[in-house]
Amino acid sequence: MSTEVSEPASKVDLAPGASGSGEIPQFDITLRVRRYDPEVSEEAYWEDFELTMYGTDRVLDALHKVKWEIDGSLSFRRSCAHGVCGSDAMRINGRNRLACKTLLKDLDTAKPITVEAIKGLPVEKDLIVDMEPFFQSYREIMPFLVAKGHEPSAERYQSPEDRERYDDTTKCILCAACTSSCPVFWTDGQYFGPAAIVNAHRFIFDSRDDAGDMRLEILNDKEGVWRCRTTFNCSEACPRGIQVTKAIAEVKQAVLTRSI
Ligand code: SF4
Ligand code: FES
Repeated sequence: MSTEVSEPASKVDLAPGASGSGEIPQFDITLRVRRYDPEVSEEAYWEDFELTMYGTDRVLDALHKVKWEIDGSLSFRRSCAHGVCGSDAMRINGRNRLACKTLLKDLDTAKPITVEAIKGLPVEKDLIVDMEPFFQSYREIMPFLVAKGHEPSAERYQSPEDRERYDDTTKCILCAACTSSCPVFWTDGQYFGPAAIVNAHRFIFDSRDDAGDMRLEILNDKEGVWRCRTTFNCSEACPRGIQVTKAIAEVKQAVLTRSI
């Protein structure tokens, strides 16, 4: 899916007092949020918020503005606000992204900007989903180093070439953008999902690890790597640019050949 390119904003002004170089454009947006509160109603609904934002603002800033100035009941997760913690993955204009990494000016601000919870996981309130099924799959692939005969008195050597084999998959921040963009995961929540396979890859191809065969056996399960239909949604959704589909293909190959 391509990145949306901004059209001219419906209204562009400068920030009050701004002049000369360093001017920050100001524009109006409609933030259309999918609301859900099971304590009030079982029905989800869309709610529009009219906001004036700056050219440096991200979707997360717009959500903060709503929560802090308009409706404190709006619920969403966020922590670092800098693309590191992975807690604010959501569907923005129908595509999984991190709210803290999505600049409003890169969206079409002439139209309502839609924000909703990621798909395939139970919605608890507004933009907050229950991440437990996601982390359950993550835990099952043993996301930790298993080294036999490890003696803490000496380092375990790893060549730069061996380190390179799993470099890409070390970048995962467990945001679930990949898994919740996967049609197989939507239709069958039993599927391990791309994120669990990415994190298995990170250890399977680590030359210091001794549990690769166990992880491959786990992922050879009927809900494992073979459920992947190579739709590439996961790679397109990943905010870290991880080649998720490639990692899954490498794990599939390793399951077949046990060549790790
Ligand atoms: S692989 Fe990318 S999209 Fe998936 S959980 Fe990790 S960082 Fe998020
Ligand atoms: S708030 Fe941490 S990644 Fe967005």
